[in-house]
Amino acid sequence: MNESFFYRGGTLWCEGVPLEAIAEPVGTPVYVYSVARVLRNIRRLQTAFGPLGASIHYSLKANANLALLGVINEAGVGVDAVSAGEIARARLAGIPPSRIVFAGVGKTRAELEYALDTGVGWINVESQAEMALLETLAADRRQIVTVALRLNPGVEAATHRHIATGHAGAKFGIEPEVLADILDNRAAYPHLFIAGIHVHIGSQLTRVDATLDAVRLAQELADPHSDVRTLNIGGGFPVRYDDAETLPEPAEFAEALQPVLDGWHIMIEPGRAVVADAGLLLVSVLYVKEQYGRRFVIVDGSMTELLRPALYGAEHPIIPLREPESKLVPATVVGPVCESTDVLSPSARLPRLAAGDRMAVLDVGAYGMVMASNYNMRLRPPEVLVEGRQWRVVRRRETLDDLLRLEQ
Ligand code: LLP
Repeated sequence: MNESFFYRGGTLWCEGVPLEAIAEPVGTPVYVYSVARVLRNIRRLQTAFGPLGASIHYSLKANANLALLGVINEAGVGVDAVSAGEIARARLAGIPPSRIVFAGVGKTRAELEYALDTGVGWINVESQAEMALLETLAADRRQIVTVALRLNPGVEAATHRHIATGHAGAKFGIEPEVLADILDNRAAYPHLFIAGIHVHIGSQLTRVDATLDAVRLAQELADPHSDVRTLNIGGGFPVRYDDAETLPEPAEFAEALQPVLDGWHIMIEPGRAVVADAGLLLVSVLYVKEQYGRRFVIVDGSMTELLRPALYGAEHPIIPLREPESKLVPATVVGPVCESTDVLSPSARLPRLAAGDRMAVLDVGAYGMVMASNYNMRLRPPEVLVEGRQWRVVRRRETLDDLLRLEQ
């Protein structure tokens, strides 16, 4: 919990709103986001990286809700988009094309055309073949396009294996020799201005040293080319999902990088660090059953609303809306989906609960709703934005009609 989510008068609040006041009329499951926390997180990144003159592009894959993007846009931050759909969303939220970076290992021709026609500020290129295609498209349009080459530095990031991207076996980026070749043969791409190198080595990075290694390698490669002086170091700033964990703050990354960055323009692409701890998922207890010595709390939220526990073994704290008065006992919190991996928490500690009691799954503002699915024909949940004492539904709950509309 943090200063945006706290118990007061025996019940859980988000900013100036008791969460029961949202759950009651809107129903559960429902995502709730705190505007104050998002703005605080952006300020923290700006304070850390501002002195380095860094520009911030929020990685909107973490949470692409339009109203939230509007808040982020007003904070003066650009975005990192990975599909035409994400670029379109960013535009709808009012983000100027010049503040959009377009990344991705498999951009289609149509997506690249859309990006050029929209005038996005940067394209992060991930292969020689993509360079060739982009050159053709830019030439057709008589456009000069600013690009960064995404380096695969071959470093092992200290993180979960599913979210590491900078190691030799990963599909991402361009290996150093090939990247050096592209730079040496820049004349082959007269419509592409190679202004920088991009090195995102993974998400939820638990140490700064691998980032530093990657940055040094990028600088070595760029060194002979005096106009390649932008380094986009990606995202990956970690979030504490467990209060007992110590993880490097954004300021520690900035301090470690500062000595090597003289003369370089820096870009960062934080996703998780902007939104993770600004969101929670409200769920209600359906049934409680004891079985083979285990207490199962079956709730109306599941892996279709929050995939991270099932996909990564991610652990999100779960707490009751009513502040516990009784002793906490171990519980396995599960959803209704017909999959054994549909476990929201295998090791929650909860008071004795009954059907209808509500709980909050914490720190789910990043990679929560964006990874939700309709598996088991489940309807994706609504999203609520809280700002002080105001709250509003910024995306409604899906209906059966929404799901069936596309089928003949
Ligand atoms: N830049 C690039 C090129 C990326 O691939 C990513 C995330 C980011 C920035 C933002 O990283 P962040 O600051 O959020 O760590 N679904 C996973 C995370 C996947 C991250 C994918 N790329 C999860 O739930 O943990």
